[in-house]
Amino acid sequence: MFLAHTKASTYLVELAKLISNKGVPAHEDTIQVALYPYGTGNDTCNQGTFEIDFNDHAPAGLKGQQITVFSLVPMIGCPPVAVSTGVKVSEKFRKLGIGHLMNEMRLDIAKQWGYSLVLCTDREDNVAQQAVLKKNGWKKLDGFVNPVNKKTVALHSVVPKKGKYELGFKLP
Ligand SMILES: CC(C)(COP(=O)(O)OP(=O)(O)OC[C@H]1O[C@@H](n2cnc3c(N)ncnc32)[C@H](O)[C@@H]1OP(=O)(O)O)[C@@H](O)C(=O)NCCC(=O)NCCS
Repeated sequence: MFLAHTKASTYLVELAKLISNKGVPAHEDTIQVALYPYGTGNDTCNQGTFEIDFNDHAPAGLKGQQITVFSLVPMIGCPPVAVSTGVKVSEKFRKLGIGHLMNEMRLDIAKQWGYSLVLCTDREDNVAQQAVLKKNGWKKLDGFVNPVNKKTVALHSVVPKKGKYELGFKLP
């Protein structure tokens, strides 16, 4: 489902600015937010994958391009806890500050969806994601070695809070 704007989304305005800094023309109105909800399709929902793409009004060559994607899901058996997973910024748009901005937006969404705590894991050699987590108030809780690839993984948590910007769209 596409999330229609109810008012200006200052997250998307900021996102467009970050992309424009790279010389790629972007505007809030040429970016769309889609939510692929999980679960039963009831009119309340607090889980799913968010995908932010250039829409059909974007200049040719950008139409349909994915900018970023992430998912929030409740922990089985403890629904006030969200797991943040599947975070990705498309390669072309990395190192522009989008990782930081989307982390803030994600925690804003988690707060609005009523979660009390958000968990995530990341590999300790993922310098970019470690920087995002550090700057956005996440605490390292524990770590382990993934038995499959032998990489060290850290488990982090944060209490979600309203960010600096407005979502500008209604969450289901
Ligand atoms: C992790 C990821 C989401 C970060 O997105 P991004 O938009 O590039 O991040 P930002 O531009 O906001 O940068 C965040 C910080 O990391 C730093 N950084 C970004 N890429 C870096 C790199 N390749 N090497 C070193 N530092 C890097 C930035 O300089 C910035 O540092 P700062 O806080 O000191 O300013 C993105 O790299 C990505 O999608 N990676 C692949 C998927 C992934 O690893 N997901 C996370 C799984 S837990």
